[in-house]
Order: sequence, then C-alpha cells, then structure tokens
Amino acid sequence: MERKFKVGVIGATGYVGQRFVTLLDQHPWFICAKVAASPRSAGQSYEQAVSGRWKIDREIPDMIKKLIVYSSLDLEAFCDGLDFVFCAVDMPKDQLRKFEEDIARLEVPVVSNNSAHRGTVDVPMIIPEVNPSHAAIIDAQRRRLGTQRGFIAVKPNCSIQSYVPALAPLYHFGIDKVSVCTYQAISGAGKTFEDWPEMIGNLIPYIGGEEEKSEKEPLKIWGNIVGDAIEPVNSPVISAQCYRVAVQEGHTAAVSVSFKNKPTIEQMKEAWASYQGEEIAHGLPSSPEHFLQYFEEDNRPQAALDANLGGGMSISIGRLREDNIFDYKFTCLSHNTLRGAAGGAVLTAELLVKSGYITYR
Ligand SMILES: NC(=O)c1ccc[n+]([C@@H]2O[C@H](COP(=O)([O-])OP(=O)(O)OC[C@H]3O[C@@H](n4cnc5c(N)ncnc54)[C@H](OP(=O)(O)O)[C@@H]3O)[C@@H](O)[C@H]2O)c1
Repeated sequence: MERKFKVGVIGATGYVGQRFVTLLDQHPWFICAKVAASPRSAGQSYEQAVSGRWKIDREIPDMIKKLIVYSSLDLEAFCDGLDFVFCAVDMPKDQLRKFEEDIARLEVPVVSNNSAHRGTVDVPMIIPEVNPSHAAIIDAQRRRLGTQRGFIAVKPNCSIQSYVPALAPLYHFGIDKVSVCTYQAISGAGKTFEDWPEMIGNLIPYIGGEEEKSEKEPLKIWGNIVGDAIEPVNSPVISAQCYRVAVQEGHTAAVSVSFKNKPTIEQMKEAWASYQGEEIAHGLPSSPEHFLQYFEEDNRPQAALDANLGGGMSISIGRLREDNIFDYKFTCLSHNTLRGAAGGAVLTAELLVKSGYITYR
C-alpha cells in the first residue's frame, strides 16, 4: 500500500458506527480520518458524543477520541479529503437514498450498512466470498450517477448473513425451497440489555421489515448482471420468520431446505468443509481463516460460545439432519454487528480496493 486510505464513518456514534471505529483502529489498509453523526452529536469530540452510550466491549480507540464529530448536514466539508466512507445511520429510507447518492456524487464511494439502496438494481449487494463479481455493476451505476469514482455498494441484511453463506456451497444441488426462522440479537436493534431491560427473558415475534428482506435479498445475491442491472433469480422460494430474542450478539437461523437434486449428508458436510468462496475474496485483511465451520456437537452453534468465531467473521453451522417435510434441516449462526454489519462492510471495502473500484483520491 502506498499509504492508508482515509476513511470517514457516518453514524459513528451508533452501535454499528462504534464497531466501525474499533475495527478501523490498527487496520492495515484503512485509517478512520473523520466521523459524522446527526446534528445532535455534531461539534462534540467523539469521546463526548458517545459518553454514557459506548456499547462495545473494547476501549474507544485513542486516535478517535478527540476527533470532532461532523454533522451529516455538512456533507461537503465532511467528504473533503476522504478516499471513501462507511455509512450506518438511522434515517428514513427516502432521505437515505438521496443522502448516499449525494455522497457518491461528491466522488466519494459509499460502503453502506443501510437498507435504502439494497433494492436499487445497479447497486451491488455483496457478501465478498459469495458474489464478489457483482462489483462490476458499479460501472453502470457510475454512468447513471455521472460520477468518475463515486458509487454506492451495500452489504445485505444481517439476518441473511447467517444462512446465505451456508446455502451458497449447496447452490449447485438446485435449492428449491427454504424455510428459515431467525433468532436475532438485540444489538441488531442497536440495543444492550441496559437500554432495553424489557428484553431480558423475552422474545418478540416481529421485527419490522425483516421477513421481507430475508426472503428477497438472497435472490439478488444469487442474481446475474444483465445489461445495467442485477437481475435477481426467481428461485429458491424462501419463507422467513424473524424473532427478536434475549441475546446480546449473534443471529441464529434454523433452516429447512429442499433440493432439486438431493445431496447426501456427507456431500453437504464436504461442500461446507471445502468452500472458501470466490478467490478474489481470499486473504483480505478481514477474511476469517475459515469462512464456514461445521460443529458435530448436538448443542452447537451457540450464540454465547460461537458468535466470535474467526473474529466474528466466520459462519458456524450445526445440527444437520433429515427433515419430515423438507429434505434437511440445520442451524447457522453469525455475529450480527461484525460479519452482519461493520465487519462485513469493512471486508467489502477491502474487496473493492482489491478489485480496483476504491482508489486513492
Ligand atoms: N445493529 C445492527 O446489527 C445492524 C446490522 C445491519 C445494518 N444495520 C443498519 O445500520 C444503521 C445503523 O444501525 P445502528 O444499530 O448502529 O443504529 P443506532 O445505534 O441507533 O445508531 C444510529 C446512528 O445514526 C445517526 N443518525 C441518526 N439520525 C441521523 C441523521 N439525521 N443524520 C446523520 N446521522 C444520524 C446517529 O447519530 P446520533 O448519535 O447523533 O443520534 C447514530 O450515529 C441502520 O440503518 C441499521 O438498519 C444495523
């Protein structure tokens, strides 16, 4: 590397933003040069802005503490001198769509955690090991936006990062139907048990918008670039139920699946053991040593024991068995604020550097 890329984090004071600033501390390619949040936090030092609401189990990085928080309303000043930004803000979708396009039009690439652009046909939604080739749609997006280097790339919803990676190596068996029930941690709502005590001992059978995203987004991940758009595939058919559960970190998915060409249990385990994903995603600074790990123990994976596997970037799988209605059922787990949010976005940015879409300004 000629020098580290200068990165800005928007929504830096939130749960995902706090993950970003800790992941960027000591990152070999990136340095967090600026932070932004809502006008409520603007003008304060980062340390003051997160005082009393720091939620991560690591110290605030020293070099971030004294950074002055920019207002998201002051975009031009914030973007000045940055090579690219990460974005994780709580804003209405219509505003967010425009907000992220405004940044791209300032010629600053945006790697986003937000859902606003996941359905935009020329915005790649990337799990680096699974569909890195979708980055190529950025050329079409730049033509639409009229930019030379600015673009938007998104990572998918945190819930699907637990089960889509496990289904990816099985795709060639012709996945026909998937029924999935997700058990999602409270950090997925930006919360801890301190600020959401009603969740202790609780389960809520509803997370707004989550089931629709969980059913639709995998079809785009498996989609194909046709002209200036990513065309989603129309199968498998996916039915999702999404529950909020009393877990701090780690989204679990109970998956039932049927195939057009039913593999054996041994073939499925072998597919998981040998799958490393697409080669361009190998060996990035945030790549886990093992993308997928299968547990033979009947009581694994467990959120408390396994969410941090591979630095929170590996996907754990277990309990593969025959099903009475579908062909098989199994369980998957991923760390929702690392692999499912900030870590997945950092890995995506590394991929976009390696594939030449993020360059020095
Ligand atoms: N938590 C997860 O596991 C997860 C996973 C995937 C995706 N996401 C997505 O990531 C985004 C952030 O989630 P979170 O859990 O980190 O939420 P959060 O903890 O509530 O943080 C929200 C962040 O957005 C900022 N913000 C709010 N209104 C803003 C505005 N008008 N302009 C600029 N910044 C504004 C807040 O700044 P102030 O502190 O100044 O209010 C804060 O930094 C959401 O879109 C969420 O859907 C979250």
